[in-house]
Amino acid sequence: MIRLAVLGSTGSVGSQTLEVAKSFPDDIKVVALCARRASEKLLAQVRKFKPELVVTQEEPSGDWKSSLPEGVRYSRGDEGIEEAISLSDKVMNSIAGVHGIKPAYRVLSAGKILLASNKESIVCLPKVVEEHRNLIVPVDSEHNALFQLLEGVDTEDIRSVYLTASGGPFRKWSLEEMEKATPEEALRHPRWNMGAKITVDSATLMNKGFEMLEAKNLFGIDLTKIRVIIHPQSVVHGIVELKDGSFFMHAGPTDMRVPILHALFYPARREYPFQKPDLTDLSPITFEEVDGERFRALDIAKSVGQRGGVYVPVLVGADEEAVELFLSKRIGFLDITRIIEETLSEVDIPDPKTVEDVLEAVSWARRKVREIYEKRYARAR
Ligand SMILES: NC(=O)c1ccc[n+]([C@@H]2O[C@H](COP(=O)([O-])OP(=O)(O)OC[C@H]3O[C@@H](n4cnc5c(N)ncnc54)[C@H](OP(=O)(O)O)[C@@H]3O)[C@@H](O)[C@H]2O)c1
Repeated sequence: MIRLAVLGSTGSVGSQTLEVAKSFPDDIKVVALCARRASEKLLAQVRKFKPELVVTQEEPSGDWKSSLPEGVRYSRGDEGIEEAISLSDKVMNSIAGVHGIKPAYRVLSAGKILLASNKESIVCLPKVVEEHRNLIVPVDSEHNALFQLLEGVDTEDIRSVYLTASGGPFRKWSLEEMEKATPEEALRHPRWNMGAKITVDSATLMNKGFEMLEAKNLFGIDLTKIRVIIHPQSVVHGIVELKDGSFFMHAGPTDMRVPILHALFYPARREYPFQKPDLTDLSPITFEEVDGERFRALDIAKSVGQRGGVYVPVLVGADEEAVELFLSKRIGFLDITRIIEETLSEVDIPDPKTVEDVLEAVSWARRKVREIYEKRYARAR
Protein backbone atom coordinates (compact mmCIF):
# COMPACT_ATOMS: atom_id res chain seq x y z
CA MET A 1 0.00 0.00 0.00
CA ILE A 2 1.48 3.37 -1.06
CA ARG A 3 1.11 6.01 1.65
CA LEU A 4 0.68 9.18 -0.41
CA ALA A 5 0.80 12.83 0.62
CA VAL A 6 -0.42 15.38 -1.93
CA LEU A 7 1.00 18.88 -1.52
CA GLY A 8 -1.07 21.37 -3.54
CA SER A 9 -3.98 18.92 -3.70
CA THR A 10 -6.55 21.51 -4.83
CA GLY A 11 -4.62 22.58 -7.94
CA SER A 12 -4.66 21.16 -11.45
CA VAL A 13 -2.02 18.43 -10.92
CA GLY A 14 -3.07 17.80 -7.30
CA SER A 15 -6.72 17.18 -8.28
CA GLN A 16 -5.71 14.89 -11.14
CA THR A 17 -3.43 12.96 -8.77
CA LEU A 18 -6.42 12.35 -6.51
CA GLU A 19 -8.50 11.25 -9.51
CA VAL A 20 -5.88 8.59 -10.30
CA ALA A 21 -5.50 7.60 -6.62
CA LYS A 22 -9.26 7.12 -6.34
CA SER A 23 -9.09 4.46 -9.07
CA PHE A 24 -6.66 2.36 -6.98
CA PRO A 25 -8.18 2.21 -3.48
CA ASP A 26 -6.44 -1.10 -2.68
CA ASP A 27 -3.00 0.25 -3.61
CA ILE A 28 -2.95 3.90 -2.57
CA LYS A 29 -3.86 5.39 0.80
CA VAL A 30 -3.98 9.19 0.71
CA VAL A 31 -2.55 10.03 4.14
CA ALA A 32 -2.21 13.82 3.87
CA LEU A 33 -3.66 16.68 1.84
CA CYS A 34 -2.08 20.15 1.81
CA ALA A 35 -3.12 23.42 0.16
CA ARG A 36 -2.68 27.11 0.71
CA ARG A 37 -6.26 27.95 1.73
CA ALA A 38 -8.83 26.19 3.86
CA SER A 39 -11.25 26.17 0.92
CA GLU A 40 -14.48 24.30 0.22
CA LYS A 41 -12.61 22.32 -2.43
CA LEU A 42 -10.06 21.11 0.13
CA LEU A 43 -12.85 20.23 2.55
CA ALA A 44 -14.60 18.19 -0.14
CA GLN A 45 -11.34 16.32 -0.84
CA VAL A 46 -10.89 15.63 2.87
CA ARG A 47 -14.42 14.23 3.09
CA LYS A 48 -13.83 11.99 0.09
CA PHE A 49 -10.38 10.63 1.01
CA LYS A 50 -10.43 10.79 4.84
CA PRO A 51 -6.67 11.42 5.14
CA GLU A 52 -4.93 11.23 8.52
CA LEU A 53 -3.87 14.88 8.21
CA VAL A 54 -4.91 18.05 6.41
CA VAL A 55 -2.61 21.07 6.23
CA THR A 56 -3.17 24.65 5.09
CA GLN A 57 -0.78 27.59 4.94
CA GLU A 58 -3.47 30.15 5.74
CA GLU A 59 -5.45 30.05 8.98
CA PRO A 60 -8.95 28.62 8.37
CA SER A 61 -11.83 30.99 9.02
CA GLY A 62 -15.32 30.31 10.38
CA ASP A 63 -16.22 26.74 11.24
CA TRP A 64 -13.94 25.11 8.62
CA LYS A 65 -11.89 23.20 11.18
CA SER A 66 -14.90 21.92 13.05
CA SER A 67 -16.38 20.67 9.74
CA LEU A 68 -13.52 18.18 9.30
CA PRO A 69 -14.61 14.54 9.52
CA GLU A 70 -13.76 12.65 12.71
CA GLY A 71 -10.26 11.18 12.76
CA VAL A 72 -8.73 13.83 10.46
CA ARG A 73 -6.13 15.95 12.23
CA TYR A 74 -5.43 19.54 11.21
CA SER A 75 -2.04 21.25 11.11
CA ARG A 76 -0.80 24.54 9.68
CA GLY A 77 2.23 25.96 7.89
CA ASP A 78 5.71 24.46 7.51
CA GLU A 79 5.29 22.22 10.53
CA GLY A 80 2.18 20.73 8.96
CA ILE A 81 4.03 20.00 5.71
CA GLU A 82 6.84 18.36 7.70
CA GLU A 83 4.26 16.18 9.44
CA ALA A 84 2.59 15.26 6.13
CA ILE A 85 5.95 14.15 4.74
CA SER A 86 6.70 12.07 7.83
CA LEU A 87 3.37 10.19 7.47
CA SER A 88 3.97 9.24 3.84
CA ASP A 89 6.35 7.20 1.73
CA LYS A 90 5.64 9.04 -1.53
CA VAL A 91 4.93 12.76 -1.83
CA MET A 92 3.38 14.48 -4.84
CA ASN A 93 4.74 18.02 -4.84
CA SER A 94 2.18 19.89 -6.91
CA ILE A 95 2.41 23.21 -5.10
CA ALA A 96 2.58 26.04 -7.64
CA GLY A 97 5.70 28.17 -8.06
CA VAL A 98 8.42 29.07 -5.58
CA HIS A 99 6.38 27.84 -2.58
CA GLY A 100 7.21 24.31 -3.72
CA ILE A 101 10.97 24.71 -3.24
CA LYS A 102 11.30 24.08 0.49
CA PRO A 103 8.79 21.20 0.58
CA ALA A 104 10.77 19.41 -2.19
CA TYR A 105 13.95 19.84 -0.15
CA ARG A 106 12.21 18.45 2.93
CA VAL A 107 10.88 15.40 1.09
CA LEU A 108 14.32 14.50 -0.22
CA SER A 109 16.08 15.21 3.08
CA ALA A 110 13.60 12.85 4.77
CA GLY A 111 14.55 10.12 2.26
CA LYS A 112 11.00 9.91 0.84
CA ILE A 113 10.10 9.45 -2.84
CA LEU A 114 9.45 12.81 -4.51
CA LEU A 115 6.90 12.79 -7.33
CA ALA A 116 8.17 16.02 -8.82
CA SER A 117 5.55 18.15 -10.50
CA ASN A 118 6.69 21.48 -9.07
CA LYS A 119 9.49 22.47 -11.42
CA GLU A 120 10.78 25.57 -9.63
CA SER A 121 12.27 23.31 -6.91
CA ILE A 122 14.04 21.03 -9.40
CA VAL A 123 15.41 24.08 -11.22
CA CYS A 124 16.61 25.89 -8.07
CA LEU A 125 18.17 22.96 -6.18
CA PRO A 126 20.70 21.43 -8.61
CA LYS A 127 22.97 19.91 -5.94
CA VAL A 128 20.15 18.49 -3.84
CA VAL A 129 18.60 16.97 -6.98
CA GLU A 130 21.93 15.49 -8.07
CA GLU A 131 22.48 13.91 -4.66
CA HIS A 132 18.97 12.41 -4.50
CA ARG A 133 18.28 11.37 -8.11
CA ASN A 134 17.30 7.87 -6.98
CA LEU A 135 14.41 9.36 -4.96
CA ILE A 136 12.90 11.51 -7.72
CA VAL A 137 10.30 10.52 -10.31
CA PRO A 138 9.49 13.43 -12.64
CA VAL A 139 5.81 14.19 -13.25
CA ASP A 140 6.16 17.11 -15.65
CA SER A 141 5.03 15.35 -18.86
CA GLU A 142 8.20 16.12 -20.85
CA HIS A 143 10.54 14.97 -18.08
CA ASN A 144 8.44 11.95 -17.28
CA ALA A 145 8.74 11.05 -20.99
CA LEU A 146 12.52 11.58 -20.99
CA PHE A 147 12.85 9.63 -17.72
CA GLN A 148 11.24 6.65 -19.45
CA LEU A 149 13.16 7.09 -22.71
CA LEU A 150 16.54 7.42 -21.02
CA GLU A 151 16.29 4.21 -18.99
CA GLY A 152 19.04 1.97 -20.29
CA VAL A 153 20.50 4.62 -22.64
CA ASP A 154 24.21 5.39 -22.29
CA THR A 155 24.64 9.19 -21.88
CA GLU A 156 27.64 8.97 -24.25
CA ASP A 157 25.31 7.83 -27.05
CA ILE A 158 22.97 10.84 -26.78
CA ARG A 159 23.23 13.47 -29.47
CA SER A 160 20.30 15.60 -28.26
CA VAL A 161 17.25 15.44 -26.08
CA TYR A 162 14.20 17.41 -27.21
CA LEU A 163 11.52 19.00 -25.09
CA THR A 164 8.36 19.54 -27.08
CA ALA A 165 6.39 22.78 -26.75
CA SER A 166 2.87 23.42 -28.02
CA GLY A 167 3.95 27.00 -28.76
CA GLY A 168 1.17 28.37 -26.55
CA PRO A 169 -1.61 30.72 -27.62
CA PHE A 170 0.77 33.19 -29.34
CA ARG A 171 2.61 30.72 -31.57
CA LYS A 172 1.48 32.55 -34.70
CA TRP A 173 1.16 36.08 -33.30
CA SER A 174 3.41 38.94 -34.44
CA LEU A 175 5.50 40.88 -31.91
CA GLU A 176 3.13 43.84 -32.32
CA GLU A 177 0.16 41.63 -31.44
CA MET A 178 2.03 40.04 -28.51
CA GLU A 179 2.81 43.51 -27.14
CA LYS A 180 -0.95 44.03 -26.65
CA ALA A 181 -1.82 40.51 -25.46
CA THR A 182 -4.10 40.43 -22.41
CA PRO A 183 -4.04 37.99 -19.44
CA GLU A 184 -7.29 36.46 -20.72
CA GLU A 185 -5.62 35.71 -24.07
CA ALA A 186 -2.47 34.35 -22.41
CA LEU A 187 -4.54 32.06 -20.18
CA ARG A 188 -6.24 30.44 -23.20
CA HIS A 189 -3.78 27.57 -23.64
CA PRO A 190 -4.50 25.61 -26.82
CA ARG A 191 -3.76 22.14 -25.36
CA TRP A 192 -3.33 21.89 -21.58
CA ASN A 193 -5.62 22.98 -18.76
CA MET A 194 -3.21 24.16 -16.04
CA GLY A 195 -2.80 26.68 -13.20
CA ALA A 196 -2.48 30.39 -14.11
CA LYS A 197 1.29 30.78 -13.48
CA ILE A 198 2.40 27.85 -15.67
CA THR A 199 -0.11 28.83 -18.37
CA VAL A 200 1.41 32.31 -18.69
CA ASP A 201 4.90 30.71 -18.61
CA SER A 202 3.75 28.52 -21.50
CA ALA A 203 2.70 31.61 -23.46
CA THR A 204 6.12 33.31 -23.01
CA LEU A 205 7.86 29.91 -23.36
CA MET A 206 9.62 30.56 -20.03
CA ASN A 207 8.03 27.27 -19.02
CA LYS A 208 10.21 25.54 -21.64
CA GLY A 209 13.19 27.56 -20.42
CA PHE A 210 12.63 26.20 -16.91
CA GLU A 211 12.15 22.74 -18.35
CA MET A 212 15.58 22.89 -20.01
CA LEU A 213 17.14 23.60 -16.60
CA GLU A 214 14.95 20.93 -15.05
CA ALA A 215 16.19 18.35 -17.60
CA LYS A 216 19.81 19.37 -17.01
CA ASN A 217 19.43 18.83 -13.25
CA LEU A 218 17.32 15.68 -13.41
CA PHE A 219 19.34 13.79 -16.00
CA GLY A 220 22.80 15.37 -15.76
CA ILE A 221 22.72 16.25 -19.48
CA ASP A 222 24.68 19.23 -20.74
CA LEU A 223 22.52 22.22 -21.75
CA THR A 224 24.10 22.26 -25.22
CA LYS A 225 22.41 18.90 -25.86
CA ILE A 226 18.95 19.98 -24.68
CA ARG A 227 16.74 21.42 -27.42
CA VAL A 228 13.21 22.76 -27.60
CA ILE A 229 11.03 22.00 -30.60
CA ILE A 230 7.52 23.28 -31.33
CA HIS A 231 5.02 20.45 -31.63
CA PRO A 232 1.54 22.04 -31.70
CA GLN A 233 -0.42 18.80 -31.08
CA SER A 234 1.31 18.06 -27.71
CA VAL A 235 1.14 14.29 -28.09
CA VAL A 236 4.90 13.65 -28.34
CA HIS A 237 6.25 14.67 -24.95
CA GLY A 238 9.95 13.95 -25.23
CA ILE A 239 12.48 12.83 -27.86
CA VAL A 240 15.96 11.36 -27.50
CA GLU A 241 18.21 11.48 -30.55
CA LEU A 242 21.06 8.99 -30.47
CA LYS A 243 24.39 9.38 -32.22
CA ASP A 244 23.56 6.55 -34.66
CA GLY A 245 20.67 8.55 -36.17
CA SER A 246 17.76 6.99 -34.22
CA PHE A 247 15.08 9.20 -32.68
CA PHE A 248 13.22 7.64 -29.74
CA MET A 249 9.93 9.43 -29.05
CA HIS A 250 7.48 9.12 -26.19
CA ALA A 251 3.86 9.80 -27.17
CA GLY A 252 0.58 9.79 -25.31
CA PRO A 253 -2.63 11.76 -24.95
CA THR A 254 -2.52 15.36 -23.71
CA ASP A 255 -3.48 14.18 -20.24
CA MET A 256 -1.42 14.72 -17.08
CA ARG A 257 -3.02 11.63 -15.54
CA VAL A 258 -0.73 9.51 -17.75
CA PRO A 259 2.59 10.75 -16.25
CA ILE A 260 0.92 10.90 -12.81
CA LEU A 261 -0.08 7.22 -13.07
CA HIS A 262 3.43 6.27 -14.19
CA ALA A 263 5.08 8.24 -11.39
CA LEU A 264 2.77 6.93 -8.66
CA PHE A 265 3.54 3.29 -9.39
CA TYR A 266 7.07 3.49 -10.83
CA PRO A 267 8.78 1.07 -11.48
CA ALA A 268 5.55 -0.97 -11.84
CA ARG A 269 3.07 -0.33 -14.68
CA ARG A 270 -0.66 -0.11 -14.04
CA GLU A 271 -3.68 -0.12 -16.31
CA TYR A 272 -4.78 3.42 -17.33
CA PRO A 273 -8.19 3.59 -15.63
CA PHE A 274 -9.80 6.18 -17.91
CA GLN A 275 -10.95 6.18 -21.54
CA LYS A 276 -8.09 4.63 -23.52
CA PRO A 277 -6.73 6.72 -26.38
CA ASP A 278 -6.65 5.32 -29.88
CA LEU A 279 -3.43 5.73 -31.87
CA THR A 280 -5.30 7.56 -34.63
CA ASP A 281 -6.39 10.14 -32.01
CA LEU A 282 -2.73 11.11 -31.74
CA SER A 283 -2.26 12.04 -35.40
CA PRO A 284 -1.07 14.20 -37.08
CA ILE A 285 2.35 14.83 -35.51
CA THR A 286 4.34 17.84 -36.75
CA PHE A 287 7.45 19.72 -35.57
CA GLU A 288 8.65 23.32 -36.13
CA GLU A 289 11.63 25.39 -34.99
CA VAL A 290 11.09 27.99 -32.25
CA ASP A 291 11.23 31.67 -33.24
CA GLY A 292 13.81 32.91 -30.74
CA GLU A 293 13.14 36.56 -31.58
CA ARG A 294 9.52 36.46 -30.50
CA PHE A 295 10.15 34.10 -27.61
CA ARG A 296 13.17 35.59 -25.83
CA ALA A 297 12.55 33.54 -22.69
CA LEU A 298 14.33 30.49 -24.06
CA ASP A 299 17.64 32.29 -24.65
CA ILE A 300 17.35 34.01 -21.28
CA ALA A 301 16.88 30.67 -19.50
CA LYS A 302 19.69 29.04 -21.48
CA SER A 303 22.19 31.75 -20.57
CA VAL A 304 21.05 31.65 -16.92
CA GLY A 305 21.58 27.87 -16.97
CA GLN A 306 25.09 28.37 -18.29
CA ARG A 307 25.95 30.96 -15.64
CA GLY A 308 24.30 28.88 -12.89
CA GLY A 309 24.61 29.87 -9.21
CA VAL A 310 22.42 32.70 -7.98
CA TYR A 311 21.15 33.56 -11.46
CA VAL A 312 18.87 30.52 -11.43
CA PRO A 313 16.74 31.41 -8.33
CA VAL A 314 16.81 35.05 -9.46
CA LEU A 315 15.28 34.02 -12.81
CA VAL A 316 12.64 31.93 -11.03
CA GLY A 317 11.74 34.70 -8.53
CA ALA A 318 11.75 37.44 -11.19
CA ASP A 319 9.48 35.40 -13.44
CA GLU A 320 7.02 34.67 -10.64
CA GLU A 321 6.72 38.35 -9.73
CA ALA A 322 6.59 39.58 -13.34
CA VAL A 323 3.85 37.06 -14.18
CA GLU A 324 1.85 38.32 -11.19
CA LEU A 325 2.24 41.92 -12.42
CA PHE A 326 1.05 40.85 -15.87
CA LEU A 327 -1.92 38.90 -14.51
CA SER A 328 -3.00 41.94 -12.49
CA LYS A 329 -2.75 44.02 -15.70
CA ARG A 330 0.04 46.26 -14.43
CA ILE A 331 2.52 45.38 -17.17
CA GLY A 332 2.18 44.15 -20.75
CA PHE A 333 2.92 40.64 -21.97
CA LEU A 334 6.34 41.39 -23.49
CA ASP A 335 7.29 43.40 -20.38
CA ILE A 336 7.52 40.08 -18.51
CA THR A 337 10.79 39.12 -20.24
CA ARG A 338 12.02 42.75 -20.34
CA ILE A 339 11.74 43.07 -16.54
CA ILE A 340 13.34 39.67 -16.03
CA GLU A 341 16.34 40.64 -18.19
CA GLU A 342 16.74 43.92 -16.33
CA THR A 343 16.58 42.11 -12.97
CA LEU A 344 19.24 39.63 -14.11
CA SER A 345 21.50 42.49 -15.19
CA GLU A 346 21.41 43.95 -11.67
CA VAL A 347 22.34 40.82 -9.70
CA ASP A 348 24.78 41.70 -6.93
CA ILE A 349 24.17 38.93 -4.41
CA PRO A 350 26.29 35.81 -3.77
CA ASP A 351 25.65 32.27 -5.00
CA PRO A 352 23.40 30.32 -2.62
CA LYS A 353 24.88 27.67 -0.36
CA THR A 354 21.74 26.60 1.48
CA VAL A 355 18.02 26.33 0.71
CA GLU A 356 17.48 29.46 2.80
CA ASP A 357 19.97 31.29 0.52
CA VAL A 358 18.01 30.06 -2.52
CA LEU A 359 14.77 31.42 -1.04
CA GLU A 360 16.52 34.70 -0.19
CA ALA A 361 17.69 35.01 -3.81
CA VAL A 362 14.11 34.38 -4.98
CA SER A 363 12.85 37.11 -2.62
CA TRP A 364 15.62 39.49 -3.72
CA ALA A 365 14.50 39.02 -7.34
CA ARG A 366 10.86 39.62 -6.46
CA ARG A 367 11.75 42.85 -4.65
CA LYS A 368 13.95 43.96 -7.57
CA VAL A 369 11.13 43.37 -10.07
CA ARG A 370 8.82 45.50 -7.90
CA GLU A 371 11.48 48.25 -7.76
CA ILE A 372 11.89 48.23 -11.54
CA TYR A 373 8.12 48.23 -11.95
CA GLU A 374 7.69 51.23 -9.60
CA LYS A 375 10.51 53.15 -11.29
CA ARG A 376 9.71 52.49 -14.91
CA TYR A 377 6.19 51.20 -15.36
CA ALA A 378 3.95 52.47 -12.54
CA ARG A 379 4.96 56.10 -13.20
CA ALA A 380 4.48 55.76 -16.94
CA ARG A 381 0.81 54.85 -16.42
N1 LIG B 1 -0.85 21.89 -14.45
C1 LIG B 1 -0.09 21.11 -15.17
O1 LIG B 1 -0.56 20.45 -16.12
C2 LIG B 1 1.38 21.01 -14.88
C3 LIG B 1 2.19 20.24 -15.72
C4 LIG B 1 3.54 20.09 -15.41
C5 LIG B 1 4.08 20.72 -14.31
N2 LIG B 1 3.29 21.49 -13.50
C6 LIG B 1 3.89 22.14 -12.33
O2 LIG B 1 3.20 21.67 -11.18
C7 LIG B 1 3.09 22.71 -10.20
C8 LIG B 1 1.61 22.91 -9.89
O3 LIG B 1 0.95 23.39 -11.05
P1 LIG B 1 -0.64 23.49 -11.15
O4 LIG B 1 -0.93 23.93 -12.54
O5 LIG B 1 -1.27 22.25 -10.62
O6 LIG B 1 -0.91 24.73 -10.15
P2 LIG B 1 -2.30 25.29 -9.59
O7 LIG B 1 -3.45 24.69 -10.33
O8 LIG B 1 -2.17 26.76 -9.56
O9 LIG B 1 -2.37 24.71 -8.09
C9 LIG B 1 -1.47 25.11 -7.13
C10 LIG B 1 -1.67 24.34 -5.83
O10 LIG B 1 -0.67 24.78 -4.90
C11 LIG B 1 -1.31 25.23 -3.70
N3 LIG B 1 -0.49 26.30 -3.11
C12 LIG B 1 -0.23 27.53 -3.59
N4 LIG B 1 0.58 28.20 -2.76
C13 LIG B 1 0.84 27.37 -1.73
C14 LIG B 1 1.59 27.48 -0.54
N5 LIG B 1 2.24 28.60 -0.23
N6 LIG B 1 1.65 26.40 0.29
C15 LIG B 1 0.98 25.26 0.01
N7 LIG B 1 0.24 25.10 -1.11
C16 LIG B 1 0.16 26.14 -1.95
C17 LIG B 1 -2.69 25.71 -4.14
O11 LIG B 1 -3.58 25.75 -3.03
P3 LIG B 1 -4.92 26.71 -3.09
O12 LIG B 1 -5.85 26.03 -4.06
O13 LIG B 1 -5.44 26.68 -1.69
O14 LIG B 1 -4.48 28.06 -3.56
C18 LIG B 1 -3.02 24.60 -5.15
O15 LIG B 1 -3.41 23.42 -4.48
C19 LIG B 1 3.78 23.94 -10.81
O16 LIG B 1 5.10 24.03 -10.38
C20 LIG B 1 3.74 23.65 -12.31
O17 LIG B 1 4.79 24.29 -13.01
C21 LIG B 1 1.95 21.63 -13.76
